[in-house]
Amino acid sequence: MDAAHVDDDLVNVLFTEAQIHEKVGELAARIEADYEGQDLLIVGILRGAVMVMADMARALTRHVEMDWMAVSSYGSGTKSSGVVRILKDLDTDISGRHVVIVDEIIDTGLTLSWLTSNLSSRNPASVEICTLLRKPEAQQMPIDVKYVGWDIPNEFVVGYGLDYRERYRNLRDIGTLAPHVYS
Ligand code: PRP
Repeated sequence: MDAAHVDDDLVNVLFTEAQIHEKVGELAARIEADYEGQDLLIVGILRGAVMVMADMARALTRHVEMDWMAVSSYGSGTKSSGVVRILKDLDTDISGRHVVIVDEIIDTGLTLSWLTSNLSSRNPASVEICTLLRKPEAQQMPIDVKYVGWDIPNEFVVGYGLDYRERYRNLRDIGTLAPHVYS
């Protein structure tokens, strides 16, 4: 569905499907240049990263392996706890591999910070992060992110994998959710 189908639920459309497509293409081109001649594994973080992974992989004009992890952010309940639990681990042995973690948003930074150090402990050749969106104002953990699509304000955004109570993930655009939906 697109923004017109959920018009009343959005304050605005932050990024259209076309803008997202162009941005993912730019990120893919940068990754392709940086890993030229090297093996590459991209790791998507379920569930939100499904869309960006699918588009990123298809934008690449080279072979790439894909794997997935699922984590429960904040296992003890609150974001600030920083506790992350692995619900589904990689199927791939990443030792000696070049890995790019692909996610759709970095909010506090706690999930990706934890994941980066977890994957780094498995002796990969390298680990980098690619995120479509980042909220600098929400960040609680310093985190080195090599590939960022857009920095956005600290607002509730949905679409293109991002959900509110499991809805809106299949929205083609990315929009700011109206407060009446969640308050
Ligand atoms: C989102 C996103 C990141 C995480 C970022 O996942 O995909 O993994 O939150 O937040 P942080 O920077 O504050 O740690 P979420 O927990 O919403 O799960 P989902 O992908 O299944 O929607």
